[in-house]
Amino acid sequence: MEVEQGRSESFGELVKQGAEARIFESIFVGRRSIVKERFSKKYRHPTLDSKLTIKRLNAEARCMTKARKLGVPTPVLYSMDALLHTLTFEYVEGQSVKDILLDFGLHGINEELMNDIATQIGDAIGKLHDGGLVHGDLTTSNMIIRKGSNQLVLIDFGLSFTSTIPEDKAVDLYVLERALLSMHSSCGNVMDRIVSAYKKSSKQWSSTMNKLGQVRLRGRKRTMVG
Ligand SMILES: Nc1ncnc2c1ncn2[C@@H]1O[C@H](COP(=O)(O)OP(=O)(O)O)[C@@H](O)[C@H]1O
Ligand SMILES: [Mg+2]
Repeated sequence: MEVEQGRSESFGELVKQGAEARIFESIFVGRRSIVKERFSKKYRHPTLDSKLTIKRLNAEARCMTKARKLGVPTPVLYSMDALLHTLTFEYVEGQSVKDILLDFGLHGINEELMNDIATQIGDAIGKLHDGGLVHGDLTTSNMIIRKGSNQLVLIDFGLSFTSTIPEDKAVDLYVLERALLSMHSSCGNVMDRIVSAYKKSSKQWSSTMNKLGQVRLRGRKRTMVG
């Protein structure tokens, strides 16, 4: 384990220590980059653990690439290291949607920017969902507004999976709705604006919205009946 620690330091400056991964800011071939290192779960068998970790790394890389192909901006993936359990991405310069909305809550809402962000979020999720991709962790910290262009960039595909089931898509939207309600309640009806953009972007919006109604009533967990 100490060897792991020693190696970690060479990735660069630690930005975030999460439950599943550590995030470092680094330089890759002269470019500012982010290194996401998935670390082992001590309670798992080492070989099994490594296999699972590589599977998750692969899935994250694949889902992120798929999102880009669907026309949703994501960071460029620079490299993947199956031995070190790392993914290296382009560093996206800009503020997270979380920080922007928190700032709106404190200093007043810039309606134009708010509308633009909500529209981009709804549009992006619609594209993912119609392409059969569920993000799995749609919170405002997993969205960055690129400095200069104000383009929305989706990050963190660590919990993403492919699915065409309306329920999975509805839960995706529900997670975002809960995050907005709990963290950004002073920003008004952001979710309504997101949903209206989603309806324009996704051809299958009606079955997803139908399910969203049901998910709202019972919470995100599937009822264990039958
Ligand atoms: N490509 C990137 N560019 C800039 N910042 C990033 C990038 N990727 C991650 N981050 C920063 O690191 C944080 C954690 O990364 P994330 O992929 O969301 O990992 P976690 O699974 O720990 O949430 C993000 O909330 C963001 O602040
Ligand atoms: Mg995250």
